[in-house]
Amino acid sequence: IPIERYRNFCIVAHIDHGKSTLSDRLLEHTGTISAGDANKQVLDKLDVERERGITVKAQTCTMIYKNPKDGLDYLLHLVDTPGHVDFRAEVTRSYASCGGALLLVDASQGVQAQTVANFHLAFAEGLTLIPVVNKIDMASADVERALDQIERAFELEPSKALRVSAKTGLGIEKILPAVIEEIPHPVGDASKPLRMLLVDSWYDTFRGVICLVRVFDGQLKAGDKIVSFATGNQYTVGEVGIQYPNQVPQTLIRAGQVGYVFFNPGMKKIQDAKIGDTFTNLGCENVVEPYPGFEEPKPMVFVAAFPTDQSNYTKLSDSIGQLVLNDRSVTLQKDSSDALGAGWRLGFLGSLHCSVFQDRLRQEHGADVIITEPSVPTKIVYSDGEEDIITNPAQFPEYDHHRLRSATLYEPVVKATIALPEDYYGRVIEILEATRGTNEGVEFFGNQVIMKYEIPAASLVDDLFGKLKGATKGYATLDYEDAGWRESDLVKMNLLVNKEPVDAIARIVHRSQAVRLGRAWVVKFKEHVSRQMFEVVIQAQAGRQIVARETLKPFRKDVLAKLHASDISRRRKLLEKQKEGRKRLRAVGNVVIEQESFQKFLSK
Ligand code: GTP
Repeated sequence: IPIERYRNFCIVAHIDHGKSTLSDRLLEHTGTISAGDANKQVLDKLDVERERGITVKAQTCTMIYKNPKDGLDYLLHLVDTPGHVDFRAEVTRSYASCGGALLLVDASQGVQAQTVANFHLAFAEGLTLIPVVNKIDMASADVERALDQIERAFELEPSKALRVSAKTGLGIEKILPAVIEEIPHPVGDASKPLRMLLVDSWYDTFRGVICLVRVFDGQLKAGDKIVSFATGNQYTVGEVGIQYPNQVPQTLIRAGQVGYVFFNPGMKKIQDAKIGDTFTNLGCENVVEPYPGFEEPKPMVFVAAFPTDQSNYTKLSDSIGQLVLNDRSVTLQKDSSDALGAGWRLGFLGSLHCSVFQDRLRQEHGADVIITEPSVPTKIVYSDGEEDIITNPAQFPEYDHHRLRSATLYEPVVKATIALPEDYYGRVIEILEATRGTNEGVEFFGNQVIMKYEIPAASLVDDLFGKLKGATKGYATLDYEDAGWRESDLVKMNLLVNKEPVDAIARIVHRSQAVRLGRAWVVKFKEHVSRQMFEVVIQAQAGRQIVARETLKPFRKDVLAKLHASDISRRRKLLEKQKEGRKRLRAVGNVVIEQESFQKFLSK
């Protein structure tokens, strides 16, 4: 098939508007998968993706389609992109390998926050957009309203829009002819030296690192020697092929195609496969121009993870290592806490990314892992101009540190796009104001409102999305992008147990939240800590100030008291049992606390 009959495209949509369902339908329509295949949503391969019904990693698939108009075969390449904002970097990457996109809008929900955000990304990449209104089978579908919103928000011609039901298959047959008609074919020259972009990579237990590539010029086949511009590493190609929908080896892939490749010997680490890297034939480094590359995503949300029992450290370390291996956007460092022992500090792109990772870890380790509350980084600029970015509150200087007094503190902020029905406008304004956000504009499309707000990233970690959903009967949608740092009156909060800080619980918060959080902390901690032989004072400290306090009355626990002195074996057994229990105990100062108490305290 000549390059004029290739099309690379993706689907731009808000979460749940039916992107995966539509992808399945297109794969069926082209016979790539069989109808009634039990294995629906072929493109969502990770377990969590299936469970949560969301797409986390971009997946791709090649289809061969006979165009009814000219009777010729076309090679269509569908790139599935993640629907959630945390994975924006993956979205942008996928767009770079496409010539166009279907802009998919749910007929009953209309244009939502991520439709707007993803539209802007796709538009900036110069993609040709074909509007598609989905779910027209639903009773609540309002196609005209959706078309009106598409026209007003994106200036796309409503008469060009396709009306489909991905679920029933209604109207599906019009999509691929429109793709062929509207979306330009890729351009490239297969006779030139190789110029190939690395779009994605993942780790396969049997084959090692597999790269998804877009070939712009030249061709690639097994045995070729190629070189990376980013790392200078040289590789010999082991196998090339296309995803159809599983990996199908090919003798070669060439200019215009998207395919997979792995090397022999393979790449050692997933970090060697730098997304956005350019590859060329060995010896052509001076004649081929590399692509500018992509910006590395920055982690925004941090947690610490500790094994409940330190004897499980190695096992947990292996699991975390495995998970990180497959997700380059997670950052990993060793961490240790006086209260919780040795563990790790993990950085994520956003809250959802973080909770997906936690789910995966818990699936394997159940309750055997303690995960601290998520936090965002803080920037400290000292009076001498030195800067420090703190991702672990335990490393934040204490309030009496002399340099902190003249320093300026900054917190990360995001530009949020929120879409909601007009009826809930007042409630949503209240919630957004409470996050210390600043209003940056409001637009009305019929009964739909789209608001832009600059808000602290910390409010996202604080479940802003949940609050918005709660206030709008689930209608509000949210999208955001990084907007740098904003000066802020931040303070370090410590939880003190008999005057000793519990390091793993420390947090940096805005001063206005200190009292509320402090109260919540001491009450909750008291609930979960068992009594001791002496009085325990639990305090919350914000900077130099104690903002909340609770006391735990002493209690005498003597397991032997009720036993008869002569019952030696029974007595020994009891003492042993108690010793075993002690393994899971931790000390904060003179106070002995069960691991379980921390776990309960940290779980919501
Ligand atoms: P992400 O992968 O998370 O971005 O979601 P998605 O956009 O891929 O949505 P998905 O295809 O998973 O569809 C979301 C829900 O809408 C599912 O329950 C689908 O069954 C349903 N759905 C999709 N298309 C249609 C349709 O045309 N009609 C109706 N009634 N339901 C649909």
